[in-house]
Amino acid sequence: MKIIAVNTPQGMAEAGYELVQQTVEENKHPVLGMATGSSPLGIYALMRKNKLDVRHAITVNLDEYVNLSSEDKNSYHYFMNKQLFHHLSFAQTFIPNGMAQSLEEECKRYDNVIENHPIDLQILGIGENGHIGFNEPGTSFASGTHIVKLTDSTRQANRRFFEKEEDVPTHAITMGIASIMKAKQIALLASGLKKAEAIKTLLEGPVTEECPATVLRNHPNVVIIADRQALSLCSEESFHEHQQVFSISDLLSNSRVD
Ligand code: GLP
Repeated sequence: MKIIAVNTPQGMAEAGYELVQQTVEENKHPVLGMATGSSPLGIYALMRKNKLDVRHAITVNLDEYVNLSSEDKNSYHYFMNKQLFHHLSFAQTFIPNGMAQSLEEECKRYDNVIENHPIDLQILGIGENGHIGFNEPGTSFASGTHIVKLTDSTRQANRRFFEKEEDVPTHAITMGIASIMKAKQIALLASGLKKAEAIKTLLEGPVTEECPATVLRNHPNVVIIADRQALSLCSEESFHEHQQVFSISDLLSNSRVD
């Protein structure tokens, strides 16, 4: 894994955007794995601002709440429309349907979507408990798309977006860990002290299903774009072990900072 330490939210957005831009420009039919949450907001803002030409690109989102319609302002569908899909014209966009009559069928359908559209670049945030997508601690590393019962910690972390506690969904549909690992490249974004523990475990802890993000240590092409606060609990050794790079151009030219 490579680490890019940034000082500002803008720095995180720019580094992430460069990867997106490179993926979109270098591939004939790029497939972008999209995440929601606050971490990728800056990247999406730059995509809008620069009017990135994505007419040939396909997006595949990570997850969605169960039982929230696309008109509900807390659904990830609504989020993607607002952030990107109403502004840029993609060739095709996919989001799991949390309103499907049969959620079991929907999981199968979504696994086919992922199979038919191999992801070139997967953008990821990270939960405070180390979840990726909505793969909560204990999820099998072999999992495909599945329905998840959200943990109290995740519901609490997402509580701020909802009016009342009971409005926070109890379940979600998420791409599985095995599907995420199939992406050719993964960029994980993290900012703030709240993520420091999860980032330390990701970089230094044992690779275990108890912290889903640790699976990324088994992936050949991962870049962690994180601010100093999110990296604050990490030891010097992890910067060396995982190779700290200063920028995306360093990353691309494979240079190493010792
Ligand atoms: C949610 C999403 C995750 C996201 C996480 C972190 O639980 N399902 O995909 O990574 O929140 O969100 P944020 O970026 O807002 O910290």
